[in-house]
Amino acid sequence: MRKAYIAGNWKMNLTPSEGAEYAASLAKAVKESGVDCRVMIAPSFVALPAVVEAVKGSGITVAAQNMANHVSGAYTGEVSPLMLKDIGVNTVILGHSERRRYYGETDEIINSKVLLALSEGMEVVLCVGETLEERQGGKLEEVLSRQIKVGLAGVEASQMEKITIAYEPVWAIGTGMTATPEDADGAHAFIRSTVGSLYSDDIAKNLIIQYGGSVKAGNIKALMSKENVDGALVGGASLTLDAFLPIITYNN
Ligand code: PGA
Repeated sequence: MRKAYIAGNWKMNLTPSEGAEYAASLAKAVKESGVDCRVMIAPSFVALPAVVEAVKGSGITVAAQNMANHVSGAYTGEVSPLMLKDIGVNTVILGHSERRRYYGETDEIINSKVLLALSEGMEVVLCVGETLEERQGGKLEEVLSRQIKVGLAGVEASQMEKITIAYEPVWAIGTGMTATPEDADGAHAFIRSTVGSLYSDDIAKNLIIQYGGSVKAGNIKALMSKENVDGALVGGASLTLDAFLPIITYNN
């Protein structure tokens, strides 16, 4: 059985004090409402320590939105996995489409980060997804297959339990355009079978695949009802308790 896993990617929103205040109220709400899915939030680097502190004991996972592909050294402006682990952050989102698009992260760079995170014992949410142009050009499977094969190159079967894949069609991020639950399920089924052919049926069966792109209270239930949709990576609707709580309690 795959346990539902819902994540909030705060992107470049919420200052450390705003984030800590919100995280504390989220932790309280999670305890009171008996949320039965795994909940993760990913604040900015500078908000991480305060947010880790604010959610202590709640079971909420706190993740980074990115990290360096080196453990230390002359890499101005970068944050190492050792620094994240030191403050109690053991999960990282890698390969988000905004990192690919605005910061030039290639599949190879993302792969080096995935391998480093795993070697440091961290969990990874690896994001994949096609642009509108790629989808319209009939390249959906080609793009997903390349992002998964290169992104996971060198990852051992025994490390796959630390990997979650987030399918985020780029055209559905922050646009209000959601893929239909059927579109999402189809892409997730393709991702699962790609992972199955790289590893094993068992690993594919246990792989958690999140959907991301304009997820909100009004569409989470339909998405989660699909066989291959195991969770969500939520951007805009993860920034307030009012918007995020109904999403993580979709099943209550
Ligand atoms: P959105 O973002 O929910 O605001 O569309 C999703 C994401 O980019 O993770």
